[in-house]
Amino acid sequence: MADIPLKMGLEVQNGAQSMAIFKLSDTEVYAIGNICPHRQGPLADGMVTGKAVICPLHSWQISLLNGEPLLENAGKAGVPTYETIIEAGKLYVMVD
Ligand code: FES
Repeated sequence: MADIPLKMGLEVQNGAQSMAIFKLSDTEVYAIGNICPHRQGPLADGMVTGKAVICPLHSWQISLLNGEPLLENAGKAGVPTYETIIEAGKLYVMVD
């Protein structure tokens, strides 16, 4: 956990699956799909605002809570989310 940057995205590859990890605090970490649903921008490179990430390509905001686009893009296709568990200072991301 200590090596995960605070309020910045961290790209993690799990086979063909690309995830973006966001640590908002030592007790609050979110994992979502890294590929923006708009035009495949890398969400891990985006800026965090509240509990959302701003895609670096065209500024869609994607919720870290449910992977859904926000604001004017609400209702459009989102990205997957993954359960995270913090235990003994380690982060576990639950994947299928
Ligand atoms: S690719 Fe993410 S907003 Fe366009």
